Amino acid sequence: MERLILAIETSCDETAAAVTLGRTVLGSAVYTQREHELYGGVVPEIASRNHVMKIPYIVDEALKKAEKSYRDIDAIAVTNGPGLIGALLVGVSFAKALAYYYKLPLIPVHHIEGHICSLFISHETLEPPFLCLVVSGGHSHILVVEDYGVYRLIGKTRDDAVGEAFDKTARALGLGYPGGPKLEALAREGEPVYAYPRGFKGETHLDFTFSGLKTAVINHIHNMEQKGETYKKADIAASFQNEAVSFLADNTFEAAARTGINKIGIAGGVSANGALREAFRRRAEKENISLYLPELKYCTDNAAMIGCAAAFSKETDQPLRLNADASRMLFE
Ligand code: KG4
Ligand code: ZN
Repeated sequence: MERLILAIETSCDETAAAVTLGRTVLGSAVYTQREHELYGGVVPEIASRNHVMKIPYIVDEALKKAEKSYRDIDAIAVTNGPGLIGALLVGVSFAKALAYYYKLPLIPVHHIEGHICSLFISHETLEPPFLCLVVSGGHSHILVVEDYGVYRLIGKTRDDAVGEAFDKTARALGLGYPGGPKLEALAREGEPVYAYPRGFKGETHLDFTFSGLKTAVINHIHNMEQKGETYKKADIAASFQNEAVSFLADNTFEAAARTGINKIGIAGGVSANGALREAFRRRAEKENISLYLPELKYCTDNAAMIGCAAAFSKETDQPLRLNADASRMLFE
């Protein structure tokens, strides 16, 4: 029988809680900490303090939305890594306290497994095996979801994650934080007139590199400024986004061709990007691939995906000595 799960996620700058039953989300609450905007990026200590202040209210909000009380809950799920250690510890400590007081099982969830499982929420009938492109602030992975909780890595970034490249390029364009959505908005007003170089051209592996792309954009801006040339920031944003999206699509569809798997899912914060979604839709149609995208509210960090992952996870319930693990691995 499915367990009613109360899930908690505090790995970065979103304080989130949700009540889930299998793939069904009964109530989800997310507080996005805006305090970091002032500093141009996430300040770990500020994130931890905000989680401490917000978590009880966010959990209450999720329960209220689900019309459930603590007494209805069958298990507690919590992200215990990877992420910012102080931020993770707030969620893990809160989850342990609840599990202890209400005598409930405690299920640790890997943050990236959570993102992958956001696809199960948005697509009721999706089942493994399928290919998944995970694109977030810390990860750019192509993996095969062979079964529930069973993953095989077939490509990953060797340096910056694509979300990180979006954020750093946005900063170079003076757009502030969070950079990804701001860069996307600006790119809509421009054209991809500049061809930025692709790393790993002609290689046989399916890994990514995004740090060179970000550097190419920064050098391009400096060059034009030194020469006194006028340029449209929107064209630079559109050109960067075009190359990042094409690189992701080229490798992911190549992975589909090589593995013969004709189902592709995309998950993680960058999967909210409209240009990425559109490019994958067009290519999937052309190449006869079924494409699975999360609903926008489940692309960026949330706890509904953590609850769903706990329902499908091979992870066993943990004793109360569970700890946070900032660099927890999904693959051995
Ligand atoms: O999954 P997520 O919320 O947190 C991590 O696990 O990292 O992803 C956050 C990342 C950030 O780098 C953010 O800039 C990027 O996702 N992002 C976007 C968009 N929305 C969020 N990047 C490009 N376009 C977007 N619309
Ligand atoms: Zn995330």
